[in-house]
Amino acid sequence: MLPTPIIKDIDYDKVYEPSEDSFYLLDCFEDQQQYLENKFTKNDKLPIITEIGTGSGIVTTFILQNILPNAIYITTDINPNACLTVKSTIKYNCKEKAYLVDSTQMDLTSSIRNNIIDLLIFNPPYVPASDIPKIPQMDADKTWLDLALLGGEDGMIITWKVLNNLENILSNDGVAYILFCARNKPDQVADIMRNKGWKVDVIINEKAGWEVLSILRFNRH
Ligand SMILES: C[S@@+](CC[C@H](N)C(=O)[O-])C[C@H]1O[C@@H](n2cnc3c(N)ncnc32)[C@H](O)[C@@H]1O
Repeated sequence: MLPTPIIKDIDYDKVYEPSEDSFYLLDCFEDQQQYLENKFTKNDKLPIITEIGTGSGIVTTFILQNILPNAIYITTDINPNACLTVKSTIKYNCKEKAYLVDSTQMDLTSSIRNNIIDLLIFNPPYVPASDIPKIPQMDADKTWLDLALLGGEDGMIITWKVLNNLENILSNDGVAYILFCARNKPDQVADIMRNKGWKVDVIINEKAGWEVLSILRFNRH
């Protein structure tokens, strides 16, 4: 069992608190350790890893600490409070590796060059809702949490933005891990993506309270 990062001194009124979805991502990467080591450690080049929507930073810190300690991390969140928090979580858990992580405020991967990300991770706002919340002021409180959770129609508005652009986001040999709840209709999403030529594997499919969460892995064939 790999150690879980310690999350300290976070304002949970402004930053998403690690929850079952976050912990399933840790289980997923524990399961995928060998696969990722084989994929990335044979290359001369350090892999570029991007987690979209880092929140507290628990997932990126776990991967840096336990799975891929030699990599370049460019993490993103739309929430500036989360961007600051990921840096402090990394410093607290693995200070000597903190220089490898650039935490940036942006919409999804919009300011990252095309086709350079080797590993993409996203635990998106996946709860179905009538709309996507507007971006609040920096010092606003609970509204940042709406942005972490609410995903518009089928909870898929933000996730489809990423899936529809995956071709431009990932490097040639890149891989993406994205989390879904059952109301996002992940089976249908997987079929659509397979029809577009992607190889889609279900890595996690587990009950979490009344919800079923899945993590799908997307590769070019
Ligand atoms: C469900 S939380 C996941 C947080 C963390 N990755 C975890 O697993 O605990 C979703 C995160 O995505 C961020 N987010 C929402 N919309 C975004 C966007 N358009 N671009 C970047 N990040 C976004 C939210 O601010 C929030 O931190």
